[in-house]
Amino acid sequence: MPPTPLSSQERESLLHAARQALKRAYAPYSNFHVGAAVLTEQGEVFTGCNVENASYGLTICAERSAIFTAVQQTPDKKLAIRAVAVVNGSDVPCSPCGACRQVIFEFGENAIVIFKGQQGYLDLPIQQLLPESFRLS
Ligand code: THU
Repeated sequence: MPPTPLSSQERESLLHAARQALKRAYAPYSNFHVGAAVLTEQGEVFTGCNVENASYGLTICAERSAIFTAVQQTPDKKLAIRAVAVVNGSDVPCSPCGACRQVIFEFGENAIVIFKGQQGYLDLPIQQLLPESFRLS
């Protein structure tokens, strides 16, 4: 099933939610603050921010933080991601890392990912961002 495009209102409100989440980022080491918002197929929105640690490798990205919250808040293992928006406090290009792409795909094979590219915001399907993603079958 091809990704269903978001209406401009859905898109704007998802970006707004991500900007709100950005304010909660805990990033004293990189000083790079990131916020993410997930829109589910059921129409719910869950947000997350990056949370860093003095042991750098323990850091979690905003996207996975949002998705893990969505998993916890969605009963019956029914989470289906329709879209994910990512913003950062430096207003520079920032696409989701490989780990986050794999986690997005797990819950939304047709999810649309909204992020700032080199020439402004892009809306791209996860399958374009992560070809040949991993699936246990
Ligand atoms: N980061 C995210 O939260 N999401 C991204 O898409 C890229 C990177 C965070 C991880 C780390 O806290 C900081 O940005 C610098 O890499």
